[in-house]
Amino acid sequence: MSGSIGIGLVGLGRHGSRYARHLLEGIPGCHLAAVCRQDVGAGRAFAERHGLSFVADWRELVTRDEVEAVVVVTPPALNLDICLAAVRAGKPVLIEKPLALTLADAREMVRTAREAGVTLMTAQTLRFTPVLSRLRERLQDVGLLEYLVLAMRADRPPHRWLDDPSQAGGGVLLEIGIHLLDLIRFLTDAEAVEAVADVEQRHASRVEDVALARFRLSNGVSCYVEVSRVSGGRVCRVEAVGGAGQLIADVDRSLLTRIEGRTVAETEAVPDRPTVITVLETFAKSLLTGVPVPVSGEDGLRAVAMADACYRAAREGRPVPVAIPSW
Ligand SMILES: NC(=O)c1ccc[n+]([C@@H]2O[C@H](COP(=O)([O-])OP(=O)(O)OC[C@H]3O[C@@H](n4cnc5c(N)ncnc54)[C@H](OP(=O)(O)O)[C@@H]3O)[C@@H](O)[C@H]2O)c1
Repeated sequence: MSGSIGIGLVGLGRHGSRYARHLLEGIPGCHLAAVCRQDVGAGRAFAERHGLSFVADWRELVTRDEVEAVVVVTPPALNLDICLAAVRAGKPVLIEKPLALTLADAREMVRTAREAGVTLMTAQTLRFTPVLSRLRERLQDVGLLEYLVLAMRADRPPHRWLDDPSQAGGGVLLEIGIHLLDLIRFLTDAEAVEAVADVEQRHASRVEDVALARFRLSNGVSCYVEVSRVSGGRVCRVEAVGGAGQLIADVDRSLLTRIEGRTVAETEAVPDRPTVITVLETFAKSLLTGVPVPVSGEDGLRAVAMADACYRAAREGRPVPVAIPSW
C-alpha cells in the first residue's frame, strides 16, 4: 500500500457526494482516484473537473491500478456484488450501512473477505458522532446501567428506492434504525440476545416507516429502540438510565445532559465533526498501519442480524433470538 491510498468511490449521490467532498478537501493517508455512478454525463463532468478517472462500470473500477481501496455508497442492493468483486480483486472495501440487505448476504461478504484476508469495514457512521463517544466515555456516571432508550425520527424518505424492498431490503429499521442497533453494541460492549419488535406502515407503500423494538442483551441490560420516517423535524436521541442518574445525548444538537434527582446537573456542548471524515481517516489509517478497522464487516453483520431478528419478531409476534453470526 502506498503512502496515500487511491480510493475508488462508487456512488456520487446524496451521501456519496459527501465522501467525494471530504476526500477532495483532504483526508490524511488517502485521496480520491476514481469515481463511478450511473449517470455517465454527470460522472465524466465531475471527474474532469477534479482530474480523476471516471469509470462507468464498478466491475472495472475495482480492477483499476489507481484504485487501491473501494468505497461503496450506492443503494445497498449493490453492496454484495461490489464487495465480492473488490475482495476478489484484493482491494480493501469500506461499505456504507446497512452492510447488506439480508443476513445471508452479510455472512457471504464477511466470509469472503476473511478467507481472502482483505479488509472490510462497515460505515456505521453514527459511532463516530462526538457526542455519542462522549456518552460512552461517561456512561459510568449513571451508575449501574439499567436500560438504554434510543430514538431516531426523520422526515419522509428522500429517495423512491427506499420504498422498494428489492433495493432497500426493508424499511426505516434497516435504513436508519441500523445506526441505533449498532450503537447498542458500541455503547454497551454486549451482544443482543433476543428481540421483540413491532413495525408499522403509515405512509410508505411497501416497507415499514415506524418501528419499535426491545432487545435483551448478554449482560442483562435492555434496550428500547424507536425509529420512524414520518415526523416533521429530526430527532436522534440516546438516553442511558441508571440508578445514579441519567445521561441524555441529543445528537442533532450535540448536547449531553446529565440528570440527577429532579435537576439538570450538567449540560455539555460537545464540538461536532462530520462523521464521514473520521470514517475515512480511520479506514486509511488501518490500511496503512495494519491496526484493525474500528467497525469491521463482522460488526456490520451483527447489526444486520439484529434488524433481521426484529423483522422476524414482528412477523411472528413473539420474542425471537438474535442469530449468532458465523462465517
Ligand atoms: N451513514 C449515513 O449517515 C448515511 C446517510 C445517507 C445515506 N447513507 C447510505 O449511503 C448509501 C447511498 O445513499 P444515498 O442517499 O447517497 O443514495 P442516492 O442519493 O440514491 O445515491 C446513490 C448513488 O449510487 C449510484 N448508483 C446506483 N446504481 C449504480 C450502479 N449500478 N453503478 C454505479 N453507481 C450506481 C447512483 O448513481 P446516479 O446518481 O448516477 O444514478 C448514485 O450516485 C445507502 O446505502 C445509504 O444507506 C448513509
